[in-house]
Amino acid sequence: MRGVIPISENIFWVGVNDHETDLFEAIWPLPRGVSYNSYLVMGEKVAVIDSVKGSFLNHYVEKIRSLVGIGRKVDYIVVNHMEPDHSGAITALRQMFPDVKIIGNKKTAEFLRDFYRLTENVITVEDGGTIDLGGPRLKFVFTPMVHWPETIVTYEETQKVLFSCDAFGGFGALDDRIFDDEVDLAYYQDEFLRYYSNIVGRYSEMVQRAITKLKGLPIAVIAPSHGPIWRKNPSHIVTLYDRWSRHETEEGVTLVYASMYGNTRRMMEAISLSLADEGVEKVRVHDISRTHISFVLVDIWRFRGMIFGSPTYNTTLFPLMQNLVDVLRNDELKNRYIGVFGSYSWSKGAVSALHDFACCGRLTLVEPVVESKCAPTETDIEQCVLLGKNMACAIRK
Ligand code: FEO
Repeated sequence: MRGVIPISENIFWVGVNDHETDLFEAIWPLPRGVSYNSYLVMGEKVAVIDSVKGSFLNHYVEKIRSLVGIGRKVDYIVVNHMEPDHSGAITALRQMFPDVKIIGNKKTAEFLRDFYRLTENVITVEDGGTIDLGGPRLKFVFTPMVHWPETIVTYEETQKVLFSCDAFGGFGALDDRIFDDEVDLAYYQDEFLRYYSNIVGRYSEMVQRAITKLKGLPIAVIAPSHGPIWRKNPSHIVTLYDRWSRHETEEGVTLVYASMYGNTRRMMEAISLSLADEGVEKVRVHDISRTHISFVLVDIWRFRGMIFGSPTYNTTLFPLMQNLVDVLRNDELKNRYIGVFGSYSWSKGAVSALHDFACCGRLTLVEPVVESKCAPTETDIEQCVLLGKNMACAIRK
């Protein structure tokens, strides 16, 4: 059947591609769609590894039916992660196969009860637990907080396939080409980091723990729940996740600003020009009013330097800049240099708020902090130039 793709003799991709959802988790834009990868592992017993978002049930169920055939059944549903983009079809599978056993850990069992009122035939496994499908053998490894508490990964021992769920995933629908050696990886590259920075980055410490824990497993294929399946070069995506979760950055600067009447923008332009004059090749400028934060985060995660500028709005930060700062505070970003600037008219507030943000976490403030009243003076512009110069120097240290 179209859309059922073998990964090996007895493991099949039965996922779906979503080009309809505008906003993942109702926040993050999906201009290139997203895939919900689900897998069928067939031995004497049959296991589904994760399912798909509930709105794709019909197509998904057809695929499973076409593989399992008449007279056979799915014996197990392995739930690596309970977020509904992967658990949304569990109830339908239970209706199709009333005896199916659902496998997860204790926290999974709680979520199954609370999301779907499912309590019957739920098997809780321990970290390192295994199940023999009569041919394929599944091993369960707990990877908590990547990125929910119940998260596990499942490893098929005979063919060394790691079903890693959200870990090692990325945005971008697959559209019938699912393997890393078939798809145009350059097309997906930024979508991997956008997924990481938007969804998983907050839990980078836990990603590091998971990578360390999985190091002992010989892995031939990484089969995540979003994005391509890595059969040619699985270490590529692990290296990227390792780098991002260690907050390893490139030389470059993300310059994010807001401007209501062009005065803060003039300051931004002076900084941007200064960075160019200093030979910084990678400078990404984002007007936070016009670029969705999802894309801004990609550059912030990528580059060593960031400079934020905001006008004062109702005595504090411009609302969209406030949102960015709140998200980054929650992300516990580190190993980056930050510069701040802004303006005010009848009340100060924005620059001190940006300064507080720059100093409260594990970021390094680059001076000077530049604040202009109403419109920047020549001195303010000179200070902006100096900020660009000092940032160029900082990111090259
Ligand atoms: Fe893809 Fe955390 O769900």
